[in-house]
Amino acid sequence: MKNSVLIVGLGNIGLIYDYNKSFKYIETLSKAFFKNPSFNLLGAVDTSIKKTLLFKKKFDLPAYNSIEKAINKLKPNIIVIAVNTEYHLKIINYIFSFYRPNIIFCEKPIAYSYQDSLKIKELCKKNRCKIFINYSRRSLKKFKTIKKKYIFNNNICNIYYSRGFINNGSHFLNLSEFFFGRLLKINVFYKKKINKNDFYVNFSAKFEKANVNFFSTKNITTNFFNIINNKYFIKDFNKNTKIYKINKIYNGKQKNVLKKIFSSDNKIQLSVTSEFRSFLDNRSLLCDIRNSIVTQKNINRVIND
Ligand SMILES: NC(=O)c1ccc[n+]([C@@H]2O[C@H](COP(=O)([O-])OP(=O)(O)OC[C@H]3O[C@@H](n4cnc5c(N)ncnc54)[C@H](O)[C@@H]3O)[C@@H](O)[C@H]2O)c1
Repeated sequence: MKNSVLIVGLGNIGLIYDYNKSFKYIETLSKAFFKNPSFNLLGAVDTSIKKTLLFKKKFDLPAYNSIEKAINKLKPNIIVIAVNTEYHLKIINYIFSFYRPNIIFCEKPIAYSYQDSLKIKELCKKNRCKIFINYSRRSLKKFKTIKKKYIFNNNICNIYYSRGFINNGSHFLNLSEFFFGRLLKINVFYKKKINKNDFYVNFSAKFEKANVNFFSTKNITTNFFNIINNKYFIKDFNKNTKIYKINKIYNGKQKNVLKKIFSSDNKIQLSVTSEFRSFLDNRSLLCDIRNSIVTQKNINRVIND
């Protein structure tokens, strides 16, 4: 069956984030692939029996505890990898030992190390399997519009991210690469290891079109950024994005006029699957392996600075 999907990993992003939310919230890959009519969600795998039961109950589709059993039964042509980052390489390698899907859609970051991300790229190349990475922000149409209409050659950008640089800050690194081009130079001024794989890192980064400051925050819900250039002030907070036009200073006061609001998107993962569908028609915003390897290389530069 065309565009048939198997999801491997039923944790937060695979199943849980929107489990108890109404169907208008699409924040997980299970719900997104289930709801998008361009795909045929066949089933899922997780080593946790509890999670497979939750999946079965919600979607009335099969769920397995063994990847091999799921693949041999369902024969999907798209496999979604939503297991913990440290297992991405191992599981992709394992799948290729007995099966060759047409496409792998893998959660971000590809891996914790640049070397492992290159191994994943090579494995996919060798097995003639396309791979995309779920850096979801660049798949959102609002950010495409912002890049096209509101970002010029000189910008200043401040980013506040939580939950670790590799795990979550990498979303904003990838988005910065999308908005501002190549990363030219970095200056790390604070770095602290927070677990065996990740860091809090504060640093400034010079991109082709912007100077960007990254700040880590301990508040797990804090993720926001702003961009300023000679015409606009762009403020992204809690998934709401507001664009202000910067007016000239008069009477000693500067007045910024609200020009546009892109309101909160509760269907982020559905947007991703729509871009996935568009990819199949060759017009996608999805993050391909080339762009995600650039992000992985830049992650490496920052944490080794
Ligand atoms: N794109 C996003 O916005 C976003 C958001 C959250 C997480 N993520 C990424 O998604 C991945 C998973 O993160 P999470 O927060 O959902 O983690 P999680 O720990 O909540 O879920 C991981 C799941 O994988 C399962 N698993 C582990 N090994 C397995 C195996 N061999 N076979 C089958 N299932 C296995 C676990 O039982 C667990 O249910 C990570 O790479 C993370 O960086 C992306």
